[in-house]
Amino acid sequence: MPAVGGIGPANGTAYPGNLTPFVTITCIVAAMGGLIFGYDIGISGGVTSMDSFLKKFFPSVYEKENADTSTNQYCKFNSPTLTMFTSSLYLAALLASLVASSVTRLFGRRLSMLIGGILFCIGAIVNGFAEAVWMLIVGRLLLGFGIGFANQSVPLYLSEMAPYKFRGALNIGFQLSITIGILVANVLNYFFAKIKGGWGWRLSLGGAVVPALIITIGSLLLTDTPNSMIERGQFEGAKKKLIKIRGVDNVDEEYEDLVAASEASKKVEHPWRNLLQTKYRPHLTMAILIPFFQQLTGINVIMFYAPVLFKTIGFGSDASLMSAVITGLVNVLATLVSIYGVDKWGRRFLFLEGGIQMLICQIAVAAFIGAKFGVNGEPGELPKWYAVVVVLFICIYVAGFAWSWGPLGWLVPSEIFPLEIRSAAQSINVSVNMIFTFLIAQVFLEMLCHMKFGLFLFFAFWVVVMSIFIFFFLPETKGVPIEEMAIVWKNHWYWEKYIPDDALPHGGNGNLEMGSGVKSV
Ligand code: BGC
Repeated sequence: MPAVGGIGPANGTAYPGNLTPFVTITCIVAAMGGLIFGYDIGISGGVTSMDSFLKKFFPSVYEKENADTSTNQYCKFNSPTLTMFTSSLYLAALLASLVASSVTRLFGRRLSMLIGGILFCIGAIVNGFAEAVWMLIVGRLLLGFGIGFANQSVPLYLSEMAPYKFRGALNIGFQLSITIGILVANVLNYFFAKIKGGWGWRLSLGGAVVPALIITIGSLLLTDTPNSMIERGQFEGAKKKLIKIRGVDNVDEEYEDLVAASEASKKVEHPWRNLLQTKYRPHLTMAILIPFFQQLTGINVIMFYAPVLFKTIGFGSDASLMSAVITGLVNVLATLVSIYGVDKWGRRFLFLEGGIQMLICQIAVAAFIGAKFGVNGEPGELPKWYAVVVVLFICIYVAGFAWSWGPLGWLVPSEIFPLEIRSAAQSINVSVNMIFTFLIAQVFLEMLCHMKFGLFLFFAFWVVVMSIFIFFFLPETKGVPIEEMAIVWKNHWYWEKYIPDDALPHGGNGNLEMGSGVKSV
């Protein structure tokens, strides 16, 4: 009977291939595309808390903050104008990812990365030299377009390039770069905020050219994936490339599967409309729900507003920035755990373990903050041990996210779509991610003001929902070659009915053997 969880290695196909230095270096370079996204996530919160920046561009916000006599701790930092500055970028990214879908499909994954890098670079320069609010906004839009292109193409590139046994680890290089980008940005803000003359924000915003140049130059050095070359009719080149990437001569079987996937893909004229077909129901569901759930973990409350949050619970300025650096460090280190474990323990284990860990911490943080500030948010001194315990729980929460929903939110969608809908479905994934990143960035301070410590329980509720969803509906994809993924759906207790036999590789003659240790219903 089909499994709740999924299957082991799909149909016995084990393509030969090694983790060659070529593929490793290629994937490291491509993964650096995550740096621009991470840098931006980490930089905006700090910049918008710099007085000189506020005075220059948002004087009314600056005055309000300083004249604020509110006694309600929860509402101290609520200011929609400023959150709009942070979150506008994600709307631009959303639009760009839709355009990027065609570029990625018709011209290859590399070109999308190159366009992403160039747009981000221009955006960073415009922001660094900004003299007026319109320049800031134009800059933010360009950065957003850059991120839309990069996030659409980099995860696909990595999943296609990697030998299937190491796909998880190599793909998570993208998330590792995101976390490194966030950490570097936090550390830079910490130092740039101290620059005399108050122009440190220019360095923070302009500094984004560094990661932008890395991905721009990187994409020029990279080679396109064999999948994408075949998709564009370059058969000879693709085979040679595959031999080089895999480091073995015997790539025939994998090559033929790629060609078959590409032929299926050619029959599709409208990838977008196609997504609505019944046989893509599982894919479409995941393309929407995985990024939605990723954002509903509440992680960006910490990523965008950690300093503000720590100030809210009574930390001083410096201590708040420092605590943000600590959570940033935990984020990077815990991602390494995921790289180590994802192809060993599987995606489902990490999702479920991470979910439980986040849930416990969210409840604990809600209890601690609630016990201290009550429902009315009366201000008060926070005993040191109390603050340390709260930061500790936040760190354990960040670690839980960093080895589950963080990396898997990008990995799983990039590996489950069949070639014919891959670009379009990935754009949906990026767009949904961006729209909820936008909404959370936009409404978090408002929500904190109204829901108070209950906000953490709100996210805790969603973590329960998403963990139940994963348990019942996400099949295990570890160790399954990307163009053979149809088998995991066919073996799944719920999704099997959506998958026609002719969607299976080798015309459905594969051995649908189930892996061990997986529960079935
Ligand atoms: C998410 C971001 C988040 C980051 C934190 C990413 O996977 O998409 O929204 O800020 O992880 O590390």
